[in-house]
Amino acid sequence: MSKRAHFASKFGVLMATVGSAVGLGNIWRFPYQAGENGGGTYLLLYAIAVLLIGIPAMVAEFIVGRESRSNAVGAFNKLAPKSVWSGIGYLGVFTGFIIDCYYCVVTGWTLYYLFQAASDNLLGFGVEQYADMFNAYSTGVFPPIFALLLVILFTGVIVSLGVQKGIETASKIMMPVLFLLLLVLAANSCFMEGAREGLDFLFVPDWKDLTINNALGAIGQAFFSLSLGMACLVTYSSYFKDDVSLLGTATKISVIDMSVAILSGVIIFPVVFSFGMQPEQGAGLVFKVLPNVFTQMTAGYLWSFMFYVLLFLAALTSFISITEVVVAYISEAFRMSRVKAVIITSLLFATIGSLCSLSFGPLSGVKIAGRNIFDSMDFLATNILLPLGGVLTSLFVGWRLDRKIIENQLAINSKGGYAFLKVYIFFLKYIVPAAVATVFVTGLIS
Ligand code: PHE
Repeated sequence: MSKRAHFASKFGVLMATVGSAVGLGNIWRFPYQAGENGGGTYLLLYAIAVLLIGIPAMVAEFIVGRESRSNAVGAFNKLAPKSVWSGIGYLGVFTGFIIDCYYCVVTGWTLYYLFQAASDNLLGFGVEQYADMFNAYSTGVFPPIFALLLVILFTGVIVSLGVQKGIETASKIMMPVLFLLLLVLAANSCFMEGAREGLDFLFVPDWKDLTINNALGAIGQAFFSLSLGMACLVTYSSYFKDDVSLLGTATKISVIDMSVAILSGVIIFPVVFSFGMQPEQGAGLVFKVLPNVFTQMTAGYLWSFMFYVLLFLAALTSFISITEVVVAYISEAFRMSRVKAVIITSLLFATIGSLCSLSFGPLSGVKIAGRNIFDSMDFLATNILLPLGGVLTSLFVGWRLDRKIIENQLAINSKGGYAFLKVYIFFLKYIVPAAVATVFVTGLIS
């Protein structure tokens, strides 16, 4: 393993990791969850979760990854041989598997909209028609399944070809362009009539929405959006060079990732309110709202085409990063080639993914604790498994890992540095676990 690849530049490191973090979590999931859970309060809880829990947990994953220089499961095995801690790696693989099964559904929706935009079938309709368009498509049987199969196929090809080469080069260009495009769209939304109401909804907290469920949802969203809690960033940071600052990188990624989510909200909510739509529309929100934006814009064809290409690629880079965790583990644990591991996992994703897709249509009557199959998988992964994985990783670094390792990884060598280290370890040992546990437990008993 001594000849492991490295990311070539610091900018490449940042953008590849941002490529994993920025995805449907920011652009699709954040606005729809914010819409259902009271806008401003949700945003506030999410921001607190990113800063207090997300950043420390991300640095913890980075420490584990760069110190061990191996994949999710290997990393914990290497740093704590023959201990229960390696369970974190297996938990990560399992969580990644669950997320993959429904992430491909939404990535498929994006692909469909990309296709519609490219073939100029997206512009010129009204609010109702766009809602019908989404409903007709997502509740169908074959078209959404076809799209998710294509997504799994693309990803399979990229992942079997190798780790990060393509991802790094592509993300370096794509991510900044996506960011600029979102800025343009956000500015456009802010100038809409009635934009104020939408912005108030997103930014002004209403204390009646301050509930334990909301807090749990916001913590889950923070983990999901930052790609935390399933050892995904362990794998990424195992490719970081020694001179990359872990705290600096984690802070930058979190700020970029949160900005993208907020921008997405700024794009969506003014439109929701100025077109008289409801913010609580569920998983279809973004898909129903955005076509209205493009229809209004000059050169809408171009903007919409660019947007869906970038959204699709952003989703794909995240999907790849999740798949990589699963495939790397399966190929190493069962000593099979990457290609074989990709084929086996892809078949499973395709099967379970199809069930998730059908849960919007023919299988919508199948409910687990009141949620359809898709929502149940999302709830299990995002609100339970990711926070659990994140907390366990924090506990591992805080309690089990040698302090010298943390010191080296964070390049601590000054007085101020040692004081910071103390605070950081205190966060990992107590604050992160206590915050998540409090929300978990209160949620269970209330
Ligand atoms: N962060 C990604 C997104 O926002 C999803 C993801 C979750 C990726 C977990 C990797 C690990 O879309």
